[in-house]
Amino acid sequence: MTLYKGRIDAEPNELMDAMNKSLPVDIRFFPYDVNTNRAWARELCRIGIFTESERDNILRVLDEILARYNKGEFKTLPDDEDIHTLTERLLTESLGDTGARIHTGRSRNDQVACDLYQYLKDSLQMLKSHLHQLMSVLCSVSVTHAATLMAGTTHLQPAQPITLGHFLMSLAFALQRDFQRADDAIRRVDRCPLGSGAIAGCGFVVDREKIAAELGFAAPTDNSIDSISDRDVAQETAFVCASTLTHLSRYAEQFVIWSNPAFGYVKWDAQWSTGSSMMPQKRNPDAMELVRAKAARALGDVATLLCLTKGVPLSYAKDLQEDKEAVFDSIDTAMLTIQVFSKAMESATFNPAQMKKVLTSDMLATDLADALVEKGIPFRKAHERAAKFVTFLEDAKRDLLSATPAEMDTHFPEFRDAPLALGYEASLERRRATGGTAPVSVRAQIAKLSDWLKKNQI
Ligand code: ARG
Repeated sequence: MTLYKGRIDAEPNELMDAMNKSLPVDIRFFPYDVNTNRAWARELCRIGIFTESERDNILRVLDEILARYNKGEFKTLPDDEDIHTLTERLLTESLGDTGARIHTGRSRNDQVACDLYQYLKDSLQMLKSHLHQLMSVLCSVSVTHAATLMAGTTHLQPAQPITLGHFLMSLAFALQRDFQRADDAIRRVDRCPLGSGAIAGCGFVVDREKIAAELGFAAPTDNSIDSISDRDVAQETAFVCASTLTHLSRYAEQFVIWSNPAFGYVKWDAQWSTGSSMMPQKRNPDAMELVRAKAARALGDVATLLCLTKGVPLSYAKDLQEDKEAVFDSIDTAMLTIQVFSKAMESATFNPAQMKKVLTSDMLATDLADALVEKGIPFRKAHERAAKFVTFLEDAKRDLLSATPAEMDTHFPEFRDAPLALGYEASLERRRATGGTAPVSVRAQIAKLSDWLKKNQI
């Protein structure tokens, strides 16, 4: 469709055309562009541009072309520059001048923003449902492992005993914040830009509140220049994806380490692992490695989208057309990655016996220091005495639980009357305050999140 006939008197250079054309990417907006056109046709009828029968013809042709698109029976022409010119061409081919009148009072600038906002709203909703599903999986695996002991690490060094359920729920709560971020982004994207025109607003007094309501938006946007210039809602959506995948990537990294036989904490179901073409013994945690890699893409998409607007003079410039590839990639990548992570988690086999084997009783040194505090010793001093005792045992190639009653008596006469019972389970039990690793606390965390998931059903 030649859009600029009156002004541009040459066909575009082939290379220019290749760079300018966005249809191969934005064809995905087709159903949204049909919605946008429907709402616009109705409004044009209300303000007298279309008669009711012309409006009905437009609506009928839109239904027909959408049906053809859904069946894959759709031919685009080399001249179709983008999704908006394609829809307009199809309307004009069917209805002649009536079709050509659809572009009254609107610009592709507000049209593309309107399509984008609808797409983002739907995508954020889908993202929320995948996150919801993953949080449910994490809750159910955590129920099984609410009391499964494992070595908690800081600096990747043995730190304190924790439970596997506690560890997994830490991811669930991080994802809850991503879900809330998506929810929050939906509130901002729930505004209709249609009726903003090219920059200055619509040249006809249209009822933007009505158009917004027809398209399922809460309200129209407030300022036409802002409506057609900004892409912060796309950036925010990409950030929600990047934040989610950054969370998943970090846990994936942990799981890759855990599936090394030196740890042997977890085994991935065959469906989510691969072998090696050369080494017959290999069982690789590819799913988790790819989760890690997909996060890199999602981060790149956020950077692309931010860079795209940072220096563009107001208002619209063609730079903004480049947002789609990045935002589509970000959302597609996040949806796929969350689902793979979820399914791999659901079918993973954790090995509690192996996890227990890796525990070292020096991890109970904090409990020893805490017990001294209960005897009135200031924590700093208690810390030093426990550290010295651990070193004394380590020099003898022993660990804390191998201390004899006599050694305890010599180093810690405070416990003479009531001998101190150090142990992994006891260590967990101490940490029953809200958010702690005691099975009772972990179960409370699971119950709290499960309850929230029920209230936030998608
Ligand atoms: N395909 C374009 C986009 O994605 C439509 C806007 C074109 N606007 C213009 N003033 N040339 O942004």
